[in-house]
Amino acid sequence: MRCVWTIGIAIIPLCCILAVPLLDLAEITANDGDTSTSVDDTQEITIGDVIINAHRNAISNPNMKWPGGIVPYTISPLYSMDIQNDIVAAMRQLEQDVNDVVRVCVKFRPRTNESNYIRIYPGNGCRAAIGMQNRGRQDISIGRGCEARGVILHELIHVLGFWHEHNRADRDTYININLTNIRDNTKLDFRQVSSAMLNTLNTPYDLGSIMHYGPYTNAIDKTIPVITPKPGKAVGIQLGQRMALSTWDVVRIQRWYGCTENASHITRTYLTDSLARCDFASSMCNLTHDTTSEFRWTVMEGSSGAGPRAGNTNGADSFLVAKETDNNGTARILTPFFNVGAICVNFFVFQRGPFSYLDVMASGPIIAPVVVQSFQGNNANEWLPVHVDINAPVGAAFQITFEAHLSSGDVAIDDLNIYKGRCI
Ligand SMILES: *[C@@H]1O[C@H](CO)[C@@H](O)[C@H](O)[C@H]1NC(C)=O
Ligand SMILES: *[C@@H]1O[C@H](CO)[C@@H](O)[C@H](O)[C@H]1NC(C)=O
Ligand SMILES: *[C@@H]1O[C@H](CO)[C@@H](O)[C@H](O)[C@H]1NC(C)=O
Ligand SMILES: *[C@@H]1O[C@H](CO)[C@@H](O)[C@H](O)[C@H]1NC(C)=O
Ligand SMILES: *[C@@H]1O[C@H](CO)[C@@H](O)[C@H](O)[C@H]1NC(C)=O
Repeated sequence: MRCVWTIGIAIIPLCCILAVPLLDLAEITANDGDTSTSVDDTQEITIGDVIINAHRNAISNPNMKWPGGIVPYTISPLYSMDIQNDIVAAMRQLEQDVNDVVRVCVKFRPRTNESNYIRIYPGNGCRAAIGMQNRGRQDISIGRGCEARGVILHELIHVLGFWHEHNRADRDTYININLTNIRDNTKLDFRQVSSAMLNTLNTPYDLGSIMHYGPYTNAIDKTIPVITPKPGKAVGIQLGQRMALSTWDVVRIQRWYGCTENASHITRTYLTDSLARCDFASSMCNLTHDTTSEFRWTVMEGSSGAGPRAGNTNGADSFLVAKETDNNGTARILTPFFNVGAICVNFFVFQRGPFSYLDVMASGPIIAPVVVQSFQGNNANEWLPVHVDINAPVGAAFQITFEAHLSSGDVAIDDLNIYKGRCI
């Protein structure tokens, strides 16, 4: 039997977005703090990833709603067709998540002659203005590394008028913020915004919102979380998830735009089509050790020593690690067998390097082991999201192996999700 494999990979930085009103400035673009501060010729200040018009700077202002929920857009031709299609697919998904069968709640529509519209272009980082600015064209940057579905959804929700969740005035009940681990130029990204400017629409604080920062967003030392949940507040929740809208994300859009509130049709492919999911909260789920390994991966929390100091899920939880202190050799863990054709292997990796590394392999009864992707030598020393497409023939059984090669430095993974179909 002949088997055809195609493999693709993307490492996608979690791009986060911030909204910072400064009173004397015409506009603020708050970006993921990893981008340096700059002032461009349109007098925007780039700090993070959100643009605010200081004179009209509130989601609480109904004038910043898009009339009729219609958002006219243009997409830069500088993008490849694939990415243009991804952007439109994210728009369709957002609409489908919030619209009901009889009434359109929000709609992204190619611009014809509307004066207010968004222009999506590949700028530096991922950033968007909050709400309709009423100043004609407003630019939304979906730059390199921002093209994952969840990041595009996040930006589009800013466009509809929403802040980051952790900017809410009540956030201190739910999260701790370590301000020592943030650069001064991104401190504003973590400020609390009064209810006069950030309308919570009577919805509860949502740690699972697609608009929440992750634990390590804007961290100076990426091994130390900036945001951690208060005890008991984020059980089973991945902070900073960029997979799909949460129920409250949907209800808020519907409430703000005066639509029927119904979150029963949110598209969550990563859940409905999931083949294996694990946040390593306590166990390795359905992963098994390869008994021929020289040593074993372990589930742990706290500092691994020569790797992460906390898990990816919420910055205070456990993860799966191969530790140099356990041995210098190889350790393999295996998923169950899949035979559904194309799958996406999505997880976070922490690989410090340059000597220890991780190989992700696919193999099966009729398929010789293929190294799908190797993570080595990058010294990233932080949790990085990874999406690996594996396009196997339907019916061909195969499993995924995570093989750690250790000499100096630990290798860890967290928040594994394997789902049917291509990575989104
Ligand atoms: C756009 O075009 C339509 C139809 O041609 C017209 O009715 C409308 O007034 C125009 N709007 C603007 C803002 O020019
Ligand atoms: C906060 O961050 C600083 C600097 O990165 C670090 O030294 C400190 O241990 C952190 N505090 C907590 C409570 O994690
Ligand atoms: C919510 O949406 C689902 C799917 O579109 C529909 O079946 C259901 O009747 C709706 N519920 C309400 C209360 O409108
Ligand atoms: C583990 O496998 C069992 C049986 O195959 C399945 O029901 C369960 O959902 C799996 N658990 C996870 C976390 O994938
Ligand atoms: C593995 O190698 C590192 C670096 O050479 C060393 O510090 C460590 O003690 C070794 N661990 C074991 C278990 O041999």
